[in-house]
Amino acid sequence: MSAIEKNGPAPSTVCIIGLQWGDEGKGKIVDLLAENVDLVVRFQGGSNAGHTVVIEGDEFILHLLPTGLLRKQTICVLGNGMVIDPVQFAREIDELKEDGVDVSDRLFVSNRAQIVMPYHRLLDIAMEKARGESSIGTTLRGIGPCYLDKVARNGVRAGDLINPKAFRAVLERNLPYVNRLLHKGYDQPEVSIEAVIEEYTPLAKRMKPFVVETAGYLNRAIDEGKSVMFEGAQGSLLDVDFGTYPYVTSSNTSAAAASIGTGVPPRKIQNVLGVLKAYTTRVGAGPFPTELLDKTGETLRSVGKEFGATTGRPRRCGWFDAVITQYTSMISGVTGLAITKLDVLDRFETLQICVAYDLDGQRTGEVPADAESLAACKPVYEEYPGWQTDTSGITEYSQLPDNAKSYIDKLSRLVNVPVEVVSVGKDRRNSIRVT
Ligand code: GDP
Ligand code: IMO
Ligand code: MG
Repeated sequence: MSAIEKNGPAPSTVCIIGLQWGDEGKGKIVDLLAENVDLVVRFQGGSNAGHTVVIEGDEFILHLLPTGLLRKQTICVLGNGMVIDPVQFAREIDELKEDGVDVSDRLFVSNRAQIVMPYHRLLDIAMEKARGESSIGTTLRGIGPCYLDKVARNGVRAGDLINPKAFRAVLERNLPYVNRLLHKGYDQPEVSIEAVIEEYTPLAKRMKPFVVETAGYLNRAIDEGKSVMFEGAQGSLLDVDFGTYPYVTSSNTSAAAASIGTGVPPRKIQNVLGVLKAYTTRVGAGPFPTELLDKTGETLRSVGKEFGATTGRPRRCGWFDAVITQYTSMISGVTGLAITKLDVLDRFETLQICVAYDLDGQRTGEVPADAESLAACKPVYEEYPGWQTDTSGITEYSQLPDNAKSYIDKLSRLVNVPVEVVSVGKDRRNSIRVT
């Protein structure tokens, strides 16, 4: 069964993830395919994400809340694998309300999800500063320090936040350690329990009506035949295990994380749709073999409007890299592809696809585990003819120029996964269903 069927019923479960370094257009694809979906669930990360959706010219950028909220019938869940910033949570709900999107009675937060505390944001800034030249270029949203506290068993969970007694007790237990780290480790002022409680009490009240046990809820929904879409954030190469470590985010971003981040077992997740940009981008530091530091890179950035949706930073741009995408597709068992931003390539006379690397004079199709070796890999390119035709108004696959179809077909064969969607513009309507 394909991840989406053109005129048929939606499959019951599909996980949508990015196969590069993030910003592949996951938000657009989730929104497009959520039309017939009952539930959309985020399972990892937090407000480091920036998922952009454009509907009839109106732009929405979601950082923390699932993109599925833009489909008014869809119920959305923030899973236990997430790190939730209550300031951003309240802000995004308010912003959506201003835009006419009401989330009440259709948004739920796992009581097991971790809470981003004010000191996590402070520590993110202090840790990045201390890394100096080798800083990661994080989004400074407190993501890394919050996950650090989770695995160190010093975290605050949503269930603690909404219970004033439990919240104080957790802070009393954790703050001495946090303050030692802030003050002695990073020369920062200490935080007081009372100040944290004062800041977070009103936010806890706002979040309380949304906090429930979500693992049982999701499993029951699937068992009743409801369709569920899992919305990945970041990209597979930012996965803390399989990405370009240490230049990664602090969560698992591959499809397997959808299970652990929601409590839905792996056997219940039927399809994995991998989202790929027709070229490659990256924000932040770390190796990027096909990066173009020349005029072509600048053209991709300006035509593709490649500036971060969360931090506004210019994204690094380069040609499509089939070595990394074969690898990330394997790790997540991808069953279908959505290729985005094809229109950005419309003007090029010729295109390059990286089909292998040259590492110390040896040709390889493997992604080295260490960042230094990956940085030393030189791309081996195959050249393809461009189509030099405006594709942005095309809605049928058969109408695409032959060279565009050959390019898509080549990407599909290299990754060895069928293409299900091609995106040729930022608006919901600029989309082509292939299967
Ligand atoms: P995400 O983080 O994976 O959801 O991706 P982002 O929203 O951060 O970045 C993708 C950007 O490309 C957004 O500005 C989208 O509006 C835009 N976009 C998505 N698909 C297309 C497309 O097919 N063509 C063009 N030109 N822009 C697109
Ligand atoms: P979406 O969901 C692109 C990058 C940051 C940095 C690294 C670690 O929009 O695809 P973090 O704040 O997570 O500790 O930063 O990861 N990064 C992203 N890059 N898209 C994202 O999300 C990202 N989220 C984090 O730039 O290099
Ligand atoms: Mg993004």
